[in-house]
Amino acid sequence: MSVITEIEDLRRIYKRRVPKMFFDYTESGSWTEQTFRENSSDFDKIYLRQRVAIDMEGRKTATKMIGQDVAMPVALAPVGLTGMQHFDGEIKAAKAAEAFGVPYSLSTMSICSIEDVAENTTKPFWMQVYTLKDDDFMQRLFDRAKDAKCSAAIITVDLQLLGQRHKDLKNGLSAPPKLTPASVANMMTKVQWGLGMLQTKRRFFGNIVGHAKGVKDPSSLSTWTAEAFDQSLNWDRIREFRKMWDGPLIIKGIMDPRDALEALNVGADAIVVSNHGGRQLDGALSSIRALEPIMDVVGDKIEVHLDSGIRSGQDVLKATAMGAKGTYIGRAYVYGLGANGQQGVTDALNVIHGELEKSMGLCGRTDINSVDRDILMIPKGFSGDWAN
Ligand code: GLV
Repeated sequence: MSVITEIEDLRRIYKRRVPKMFFDYTESGSWTEQTFRENSSDFDKIYLRQRVAIDMEGRKTATKMIGQDVAMPVALAPVGLTGMQHFDGEIKAAKAAEAFGVPYSLSTMSICSIEDVAENTTKPFWMQVYTLKDDDFMQRLFDRAKDAKCSAAIITVDLQLLGQRHKDLKNGLSAPPKLTPASVANMMTKVQWGLGMLQTKRRFFGNIVGHAKGVKDPSSLSTWTAEAFDQSLNWDRIREFRKMWDGPLIIKGIMDPRDALEALNVGADAIVVSNHGGRQLDGALSSIRALEPIMDVVGDKIEVHLDSGIRSGQDVLKATAMGAKGTYIGRAYVYGLGANGQQGVTDALNVIHGELEKSMGLCGRTDINSVDRDILMIPKGFSGDWAN
């Protein structure tokens, strides 16, 4: 294995090792992928202010997210189909997160189930919950999360319908993968991946098979979301979900200050400014641009987190300096997982941590909790000044 010094190293290996269908799933945004691209490129428009001759010894990145200790303000984001990137992928990622001291969030659309992850880890993880029509399924999902001792639930509110990702439709994305001449030919070249998959029984959507009613093809993400997800979702219904879960609640998928206020009123403990990694509304702002107006309205009332576009410790530092109390990485750790399983996720966390603490030092700060806007140079109009 070559020396890993940056997330891009992991991405290169990941691309070689994992079937095209699952690589494409990770690397997709919706439609033209404008928002997917800008989520990352907008971070590059913010500059860090270099300071010198300030004592940089003893740098600390430890802080809290929703009152829980974290080694750095970074959680592993909920990512669908993780167990297709590497066998038992959710378990491996959760183990890497727990060893590092950051939260792991398990997606409803995971391959390993809530129970699988709970049985194979020792610290509580966070459970991400989609808003489905079936109330019994929803209540059971929250109950299962409680039985598994999850220490937070994340309700994702930006997926009432699935944004179109061209590559997934063309590839016929499913779990397990459908066997077509093209998919078989491609999988034959991914020997390590295939041998791993043969070792595990976990190849289906573990949280839904046997639990969700009225889904005709439970292997297809597009069929499942079209049939089971609640397109008529409203804030009253989210209030009902709040009653189903009495632990800490995070509401993810907020891009507008009005929706941030609604989430606050529902009784969330934190919100995540997120456009779902550019996978839902193409043409939406990048999440880093959307952050500031939301901070202005709810920043002193609720914890605000951010995901979408974070690929480096410098990105984490910038989001933190703009007020986010936590960030999430999705693709950045999935690259590591596909490249080298649990060790690859650990590598991704080490890369991001190293970049974060060194860059923080070079900005003249030694404690992540002291990082503020003063370390940034943000172009005028970056966060708004729109004509309407
Ligand atoms: C699911 O969350 C997806 O974006 O595919």
